[in-house]
Amino acid sequence: LKLLSTLAEVKEAEIDGLVLVPTMGALHEGHLSLVRKGSQLGKPVVVTIFVNPLQFAANEDLSRYPRNLEQDCQLLGGEGVEYVFAPSVAEIYPRVSSKVSVPEVTEEFEGAKRPGHFDGVATVVCKLFQIFRPSAAVFGLKDLQQCAVIERMTQDLNIPVQLCFEPTVRENDGLAKSSRNAYLTAAQRNSAPVLYRELNRCAEAISQGNNVASALEQARVQLTDAGFSIDYFELIDRISFRRTENLNKDSAIIAAAKLGTTRLIDNVLLFTTPNMS
Ligand code: PAF
Repeated sequence: LKLLSTLAEVKEAEIDGLVLVPTMGALHEGHLSLVRKGSQLGKPVVVTIFVNPLQFAANEDLSRYPRNLEQDCQLLGGEGVEYVFAPSVAEIYPRVSSKVSVPEVTEEFEGAKRPGHFDGVATVVCKLFQIFRPSAAVFGLKDLQQCAVIERMTQDLNIPVQLCFEPTVRENDGLAKSSRNAYLTAAQRNSAPVLYRELNRCAEAISQGNNVASALEQARVQLTDAGFSIDYFELIDRISFRRTENLNKDSAIIAAAKLGTTRLIDNVLLFTTPNMS
């Protein structure tokens, strides 16, 4: 595994036709599944590890965000990854005078909750695409709105990259893997799988033709009873990222809810897994 930290080193490495797996480090099984997908594509895999300050609001946990490059590299070495790119903030942002915004798909949900967050994500991903010119890039479906932002950005800006969106990796009880799960108390950890259970129940009810509004409401009630404080629990179209009552192949139910101070997000797709676009 070769560790690159500057743009000059990237240029010197002359890696052609690579598969990019952008991350912020603190890697877990979810990230490793993205790496494995990347490896299956038969091209050199570059994993980027960069805690992107532009996607954190002033009140968010940028300084507390876990950083463990050595352990991350060990994990990636075990997966046969060829290159890790772990630049400094100054290397990526000598200045920030241009940003990428994808307003149409970021007005609601995580975009509304975290103003500026998706501009930060789109900007850094666009820069990484320019730096590496990857033939493909892999992202996790857990952050469904992020997938919509990246998909729309690559279309709007004609970026020639094949996007792969990989299914969420879960604990045995269904809870989506996330570094933030570590913040849950034992009692909250017991309740946490109810989120995925209700997403599935609701998806089942809606695909069987039950009334959408009442299926969503029933799930919200169950979650509130289990101790969740709900930010949103909605049926949307994953491409436009708008609420909808009409089912199509891109229908998804998305949820964000807090247990105590820990905010969990999750989603289920009703019909298909968009492996590649
Ligand atoms: O999903 C993430 O870890 C980040 O948002 C990403 C895509 C690496 C951009 O910083």
